[in-house]
Amino acid sequence: MTNQVNQMEMGHGDGAPLDLEGKHIVLGLSGGIACYKAAELCRALIKAGSTVQVVMTAAAEQFITPVTMQALSGRPVFTSQWDSRPVGESANSMAHINLSRQADAIVIAPCSADFMAKLLHGRADDLLSLMCLARPLDKVPLLLAPAMNREMYAHPATQRNLAQLQADGATVLGVGTGFQACGETGDGRMLEPEQLLEDIVAFFMPKLLAGQRFLVTAGPTYEAIDPVRGITNLSSGKMGFAIARAAREAGAEVTLVAGPVSLQTPRGVTRIDVKSAQDMLEAVVRRAQDATVFVATAAVADWRVSAPSGQKLKKDGSGQMPALAFTENADILANVAQSAVATSGALYCVGFAAESQDLLENAQAKRLRKKVPLLVGNIGPDTFGQDHNALLLLDAQGVLELPRASKLLLARRLVREIALRLARQPAALSPAIIQA
Ligand code: CTP
Repeated sequence: MTNQVNQMEMGHGDGAPLDLEGKHIVLGLSGGIACYKAAELCRALIKAGSTVQVVMTAAAEQFITPVTMQALSGRPVFTSQWDSRPVGESANSMAHINLSRQADAIVIAPCSADFMAKLLHGRADDLLSLMCLARPLDKVPLLLAPAMNREMYAHPATQRNLAQLQADGATVLGVGTGFQACGETGDGRMLEPEQLLEDIVAFFMPKLLAGQRFLVTAGPTYEAIDPVRGITNLSSGKMGFAIARAAREAGAEVTLVAGPVSLQTPRGVTRIDVKSAQDMLEAVVRRAQDATVFVATAAVADWRVSAPSGQKLKKDGSGQMPALAFTENADILANVAQSAVATSGALYCVGFAAESQDLLENAQAKRLRKKVPLLVGNIGPDTFGQDHNALLLLDAQGVLELPRASKLLLARRLVREIALRLARQPAALSPAIIQA
C-alpha cells in the first residue's frame, strides 16, 4: 500500500509508466560511510517503479544493517556467498549466479576504493564481487557510484582503476565535491541519492540523440529599471529544464542558457545563467555555431527600459511614476533561425509559442513568422509555474497534439519527435521547406 501511494506521487500524472517501471536493480553496498545514502537511494529506486535486491559486503554491514536495507527494499538482503536461500524460481541455491540473472543492472553504491580494486582484478572472495564477476557481461550492466576520501579518489591507483573499469564496460556515475565525513573537503563524495536516480534513469533511456549538441533557452528574462527594480514575467523555466534533461537522457550534449530561475541544473547539462534578453542573445549567438539543435523555450521580454537608471528612482512627491522609455529586444529565435548555420541545415530550430487563446492559429502564424521548422504551442496561463502542460507540435507536415502530462514526460516525447525529424531531415533545409 505504501509503495502504491509513493508510486502515485512519483507518477507523471497521466497514467504513464514510472521512470523505472518493470526494472529490477541489484543494489550492492560496499564499505563506506556513504552507506547511509544507499538507504535513500533504495527508497528512491522503488518509488521510481523498480524492484530492488540488496547485496552487502561485510564492510558495508559495519556502516548500516541488513535489516534497514531489507525493510526499505522489501526483500531479504544477501551478504554471503555461502547463503543457500533460493533466489526467485531457481533451485540451484547459488546466490552469486541467480541474483544477477534477474537484474536489469547492478548498481554499486557506495563503491569503495577497495571494492573497485577488487572488481578490476576480477577477485571474487565475497558475494558482491563474485556476483559482479559472474554476471553476463552483455546483458547485465554494472554501474558504479564511487565514494571515498579526496586523497584516495585523486590517487593515481584509483584513477587508473576507474579508467580500466570503464574500459572493461562499467559505467562510472561520477562523484560529488564538498565536505567529507573525514573533515576534509574535495572530490570523492558519493553523489546524492536523487542525482544517482537521475543518472540511473538516464542510463536506461534510448540514446536517440547521440552525437547531437542541444542549445536550450529557458526561464524569463529580467530587464532592469534601476538597481533594485526590473520587469520580468511568470515563466518558471520548468519546461526548458525538462527539455534539457530529456535531451541529455537521450544522449545529446546539452547547454542550457537560463534566465533568473531557482531550479536545479539537470545532471550532465552545462548551464549558463543570464539575466536580460541582451545577455541571453549574446550567450546564444556565441554557442549556436557549435550546436545542432536550438530549442527556444525562454519567455524573453519583448522590451527593455531604454536607459535604466544607475541609481534607485525616488518618488518626487508628484504622485506620478517617472516616465520610462522602452526599446524592443532582439528576437533571439528569429535571429538564430535566419543565421547561416540554421539556413544551411546544420542547426535545427525549435520555437515555442506561449499564447492565451486561439493556440493553433497563433502558433501557425508564429512558425512562419519566425521561420522555424518546428514550433511548439502551449497556453501560457495554464502552465506557467506548474509541473504539467499540454503541447501542440506544428511543422510543415501538420499538427501533433501531446495531451496534458508532466513537463518531463512531455519533454521526453518532444525530444523523440525532434529525433524523428532529425533522422529524416534533408542535408540542407531550404527556406521553401520551412515555408511549406
Ligand atoms: N523569443 C525569442 N526572443 C524574443 C522573443 C521570443 O527567442 N525576443 C522566442 C521564444 O523563446 C519562443 C518564441 O520566440 O520560442 C515565441 O515567443 P512568444 O513569447 O510566444 O512570442 P513573441 O515572439 O514574443 O510574440 P508575441 O508576444 O506577439 O506573441
